[in-house]
Amino acid sequence: MTESSALDNLLTESRTFPPSGEFAAQANAKASLYEEADADREAFWAAQAQRLHWHTAPTQVLDWSNAPFAQWFADGKLNVAYNCVDRHVESGHGEQVAIHWEGEPGDTRTITYNDLKAEVSKAANALTGLGLAAGDRVAIYMPMVPEAIFSMLACARLGVVHSVVFGGFSAEALRSRIEDAAAKLVITTDGQYRRGNPVSLKAAVDEAVAKTPTVTNVLVVRRTGGEVDWTEGRDLWWHELVDGQSAEHTPEAFDAEHPLFILYTSGTTGNPKGILHTSGGYLTQASYTHHNVFDLKPDTDVYWCTADIGWVTGHSYIVYGPLSNRVTQVVYEGTPNTPHEGRHWEIIQKYGVSIYYTAPTLIRTFMKWGADIPARYDLSSLRVLGSVGEPINPEAWMWYREHVGANRAPIVDTWWQTETGAIMISPLPGVTATKPGSAMGPLPGIGAKVVDDTGAEVGKGGGGYLVLDKPWPSMLRGIWGDEARFRETYWSRFTEQGYYFAGDGAKYDNDGAVWLLGRVDDVMNVSGHRISTTEVESALVSHSRVAEAAVVGATDPTTGQAIVAFVILRGVQPDEDATALVKSLRDHVATEIGPIAKPRQVMVVPELPKTRSGKIMRRLLRDVAENRQVGDVTTLADSSVMDLISSGLQSGK
Ligand code: WTA
Repeated sequence: MTESSALDNLLTESRTFPPSGEFAAQANAKASLYEEADADREAFWAAQAQRLHWHTAPTQVLDWSNAPFAQWFADGKLNVAYNCVDRHVESGHGEQVAIHWEGEPGDTRTITYNDLKAEVSKAANALTGLGLAAGDRVAIYMPMVPEAIFSMLACARLGVVHSVVFGGFSAEALRSRIEDAAAKLVITTDGQYRRGNPVSLKAAVDEAVAKTPTVTNVLVVRRTGGEVDWTEGRDLWWHELVDGQSAEHTPEAFDAEHPLFILYTSGTTGNPKGILHTSGGYLTQASYTHHNVFDLKPDTDVYWCTADIGWVTGHSYIVYGPLSNRVTQVVYEGTPNTPHEGRHWEIIQKYGVSIYYTAPTLIRTFMKWGADIPARYDLSSLRVLGSVGEPINPEAWMWYREHVGANRAPIVDTWWQTETGAIMISPLPGVTATKPGSAMGPLPGIGAKVVDDTGAEVGKGGGGYLVLDKPWPSMLRGIWGDEARFRETYWSRFTEQGYYFAGDGAKYDNDGAVWLLGRVDDVMNVSGHRISTTEVESALVSHSRVAEAAVVGATDPTTGQAIVAFVILRGVQPDEDATALVKSLRDHVATEIGPIAKPRQVMVVPELPKTRSGKIMRRLLRDVAENRQVGDVTTLADSSVMDLISSGLQSGK
């Protein structure tokens, strides 16, 4: 959403939805949480850590003496997988369903906590047999099959650090992530289903691993049964290696600050950053937020988060938060319109889903498909609805409330980031009166503010930058292998105050509610996925025909933002077929990064607008991309450039 449209909403939005008395009476969260956290924040978090099983209970809470590197619960020891699996079996819930898995072609699996414990233990034994030990890194490049979750938990159980790479990323993106983390093992599948068709995945691993000598084995789950190339000695089938292992495995306790995972996310420069999360603080906040924000009742709820485990939402709200809370959840492998546009509603009806967590881009897509589709299904089981990934526009919020939530289920709009590890800003259902489009305010225990350029908090009705002004348990512990970049990216903007700079713009409305306005840096948000402009620009200039490229995120009614690229070609080729060239440029970006980074439009231009110091003025290009009158050009080195671009575009280029 652009700043101006969000501002318009803010000025006109007066609807508020207080919680019903009935919901409030049964809610996990109580208003007193805010008071408890305000009275003594560290004592509050120490109490939340009690949600977990500690092999050695922590006596310390926060150590911020080496800021910005936090330590939480540093003298405590725990096993993350034990917390997500074994302890539920030991408390007598082994027969409870952990995962109702729904494959895209319609095949299903029901996995109880007993099953989960056996599968995770077998996988842990197999990884140990391959020589993996605590601290080693494993790349997981898989579709949404149960083995992806088993793999993550098996790593956690062994203190092995996982790096999940979204299955939609290219071989090249996988290669750079394997290389950065020096992973020893890659876990993958032969292929994955996409919109009804099996497509290969293993081939991308073969390509990546050919260039990453640290990888000694590739463990392959058979999913589609498609053809795969096989490297003897390196490649291993999951069913051959894992299935025969012992289902017994004793989890070892690790330090609270033992690394749990690395997850790569786009930043403002070319290479994705490996965001590092550790164990005790991360699991504490994932568990606390999942319990309170989604109001999970483990004995009766059926929860469904539609994210992919390739993103942080899948880590914190499919794997670690929900499973630590003994969830029963749906995991769906496929796309929302395969084989028909009612698939999600059909799944909700089939399993009696009561908590549904999805992204605004999908809600807008459902709106486009029509309200008559959800109306054909029984959605009466739904009692909490969540949103994440980008600002949700009030129209989509209202549609979600009416057509999915029957004007009854509270909506939680949850703001957070890969870096924050868990939800930071959100209403609490049963406590907070919500406004369509606002994430309302920081959760109990969290410090967030909107500040101006100087770091001073703005007043009601004011706008500026979102900062997190107090350390939190699930905060990132750094960027893998790059301390300088960690300090520079998040901590250099408001050094004096020691604030974490989130990269988002935000406003307070006249009641002090927080409205997120989108990124203020060069990071785009396409369908809730972070992609940096420079990443796409580097991909474009690596094409032989491109001399220079500039990329902007333009407002898009469905995807939030869409990628629009402006390219200057190398020399002129008189007979060049412009349509074919544009297609090859778009495909090239998909090959370099992944289909999600494919520009919606590629415009061939004679020049790019630059300041006298040579910086590309994206603001002007965004005007062009969004069909607006081009703004102030006085700082351009050559102000006729914009005329050149506009006239070139009008002539059909
Ligand atoms: C955006 C996803 C507005 C924001 C969990 C943030 C949001 C980036 C919201 C992080 C929300 C996420 N309202 N904007 N509820 N949730 N964002 O790392 O710009 O993939 O900085 O984490 O998404 O994206 P990431």
